[in-house]
Amino acid sequence: MLRAHDLFFRYDDGGSVLSGFSAEFAAGEVTYICGPSGSGKTTLSLLLAEMMEPQSGEILLTPDEAPRATMVLQFAEELFLTDSVRLEIELLTDTKRIGAAHHHLKSCGLCLPEIAERDPFTLSFGQARLLAISIQCAQDTPVYILDEPTIGLDEVNMLRVSVLLKVLISLGKVVVVVTHDPELIESLPGRVMILEQGTLAWHGPSAEFLATSSLRSRAALE
Ligand SMILES: Nc1ncnc2c1ncn2[C@@H]1O[C@H](COP(=O)(O)OP(=O)(O)O)[C@@H](O)[C@H]1O
Ligand SMILES: [Mg+2]
Repeated sequence: MLRAHDLFFRYDDGGSVLSGFSAEFAAGEVTYICGPSGSGKTTLSLLLAEMMEPQSGEILLTPDEAPRATMVLQFAEELFLTDSVRLEIELLTDTKRIGAAHHHLKSCGLCLPEIAERDPFTLSFGQARLLAISIQCAQDTPVYILDEPTIGLDEVNMLRVSVLLKVLISLGKVVVVVTHDPELIESLPGRVMILEQGTLAWHGPSAEFLATSSLRSRAALE
């Protein structure tokens, strides 16, 4: 389980973004972080992934393991570094994980031999997103954090992301997904947290969240 305890965070040039955020994220289940734009979702995800440090508060993982988390940044398909899909996969720091990347690509419906020598920037938008997520999620960590992984995707590709998340859950991982996408939440039930002005305003089962229009509008769903 991943636990955030009393997190306070502000950027150097601004007011407080997180003020006393505490929550628990269970393993083997997806936790969706929802909330209006500017409520601190991306900031929270970067703190959970230890890419930034809070001014106070702590993030605990039990049992602890290093490295703890894989972070899939928003618009991860814009971050390819090479000119072939094969080379992108080979950038995985642990070569033993290349097989896991192939497995994820397959579960996303991408046929690797067909695209292996393509420049990743020439793939379709959906293929590029699925490739980026598959590669990132092939890293073996106990925690995965994805910032708006289905933004801009059509339904077919959104469901492929959902399948990949399900694979991570079946491996007993902590999976945290920032999203505004009710169809993603519907496709893969879990817990929902609503972030409002840097605090946890509501949390509960995703079915209750989706069935309650006042909660949906508080979370500014699509
Ligand atoms: N790098 C940054 N420097 C300064 N302020 C930032 C930075 N990133 C985000 N903010 C501010 O922090 C607040 C929360 O932003 P963010 O975490 O991106 O929210 P969300 O992902 O929910 O839209 C906003 O007021 C935003 O303007
Ligand atoms: Mg954001």
